[in-house]
Amino acid sequence: MYSELVMDHFTNPRNVGEIADADGIGEIGNAKCGDIMKMYIKVENNVITNVKFKTFGCGSAIATSSIATEMIMGKSLEEALTLSNKAVVEALGGLPAHKIHCSVLAEQAIKAAIADYYRKQGIDPEPIVGCIEDCEACHAHGHEHE
Ligand code: FES
Repeated sequence: MYSELVMDHFTNPRNVGEIADADGIGEIGNAKCGDIMKMYIKVENNVITNVKFKTFGCGSAIATSSIATEMIMGKSLEEALTLSNKAVVEALGGLPAHKIHCSVLAEQAIKAAIADYYRKQGIDPEPIVGCIEDCEACHAHGHEHE
């Protein structure tokens, strides 16, 4: 049911932990299951130089966050913002359909951390990062995350 890569990232997750002097911290909860994820980033010259995550979540959330941190390490903020949960799931070799919602947590936590970084720089993140959470306004507009 789970690819080898999913099992590998679940049993041996990369970049787990905290960054004490993080430049941005994003915390996201999954409304569907109540799981929580926290993402920490260090940013230098617009590039993500370090990223760590902590999650109280299921195996799929751990595996997707783990590979997502690898995918954004060393990337510019703009590039990191284009990382979709779909790309993360593909990189893992797929997830069972009922576990796709878990991968959204990683994408949202990255966006929230980047938004926090911009806020700390005195920049309004909304025009850059857009809507982060699967919020009610999204549902009202029929806008679902992929
Ligand atoms: Fe909650 Fe997977 S079941 S994130």
